[in-house]
Amino acid sequence: MSWELLLSLLALCALLALVVQLLRFLRADGDLTLLWAEWQGRRPEWELTDMVVWVTGASSGIGEELVYQLSKLGVSLVLSARRVQELERVKRRCLENSNLKGKDILVLPLDLTDISSHEAATKVVLQEFGKIDILVNNGGKSQRSLCVETNLDVYKELIELNYLGTVSLTKCVLPHMIERKQGKIVTVNSLLGIIAAPLSSGYCASKHALRGFFNGLRTELTSYPGIVISNVCPGPVQSNIVKNALTTEVTKTLGSDGDQSHKMTTSRCVRLMLISMANDLKEVWIAEQPFLLMVYLWQYMPTWAWWITNKLGKKRIENFKKGLDADSSYFKTWKTKHD
Ligand SMILES: NC(=O)c1ccc[n+]([C@@H]2O[C@H](COP(=O)([O-])OP(=O)(O)OC[C@H]3O[C@@H](n4cnc5c(N)ncnc54)[C@H](OP(=O)(O)O)[C@@H]3O)[C@@H](O)[C@H]2O)c1
Repeated sequence: MSWELLLSLLALCALLALVVQLLRFLRADGDLTLLWAEWQGRRPEWELTDMVVWVTGASSGIGEELVYQLSKLGVSLVLSARRVQELERVKRRCLENSNLKGKDILVLPLDLTDISSHEAATKVVLQEFGKIDILVNNGGKSQRSLCVETNLDVYKELIELNYLGTVSLTKCVLPHMIERKQGKIVTVNSLLGIIAAPLSSGYCASKHALRGFFNGLRTELTSYPGIVISNVCPGPVQSNIVKNALTTEVTKTLGSDGDQSHKMTTSRCVRLMLISMANDLKEVWIAEQPFLLMVYLWQYMPTWAWWITNKLGKKRIENFKKGLDADSSYFKTWKTKHD
């Protein structure tokens, strides 16, 4: 075979490989490291058994689905949020659908903004189970309002709940993990902790702050390789987050979910979270296209990212003002074409 033919064949193979990777990226619903871990990495079913896992925001959405999937792995669970009745409902469903017994699940009401209660809550968990293997900082709220129309109290609430509440609980649990030289602190951040979007400036700020805090904390724990700090950054996922989103006043929530069909299913998001936890990934991006592409652009091509964000952002505000879900109408067409 001549050198020319060999080189042409190699070039063709490289081109084919590139096309295949591009097609895979178009269908991806997580960053490429995460999807690699899903394919070749450790399985949650092997790695996450016999653990004590404390989940905040367990009464709804991502946290609720997470405890259902964790209960099937046979872990002991601590369910926290403010609404006890909802937590009891979630506990009952866990018991119905898994081999766990009542004593394996502790319902522990907790308000993340009431930081004076966090130390006592941590003691209760340690008294009950003797250890905390994984803390999942998941409880939080979003925002749908323009900065210029929004009361400062909304910004305070988002920082106190999403940021300070999470930092406070982490600080209560961390000494225990340091003593044992092991543990995982998994924080449900958001793509909006990396990128930005209109109508969510306070939410973006709280999630960017969280990412900075946990990235900083990780650098302080290099002497404890057994303690894993993990930032999970989902894009839009089906839950009650939009319904509960704060608007212009701290007492006002959006009150309706809107159309959620363009969002990732809660079960898929949680499965990818479990894979991340089993493989000790430091940061994962969980989102379907085109949200995933946006975060890659923000990370690697910020000038392009700003150009697109400004165009889409304008549309997002228009949608919102018409009473539509901020994202659904303009991404729906794209998603339908690729399903
Ligand atoms: N769904 C998405 O599209 C999406 C995307 C990116 C990131 N996230 C993040 O995912 C996490 C979970 O949200 P979700 O989508 O599952 O929304 P969700 O269905 O509204 O659930 C939010 C949870 O947070 C709890 N919570 C709210 N305020 C609290 C407080 N003061 N103290 C303790 N718990 C509180 C709620 O329970 P109680 O009301 O009973 O207290 C509820 O269990 C949030 O951190 C959110 O920022 C969601």
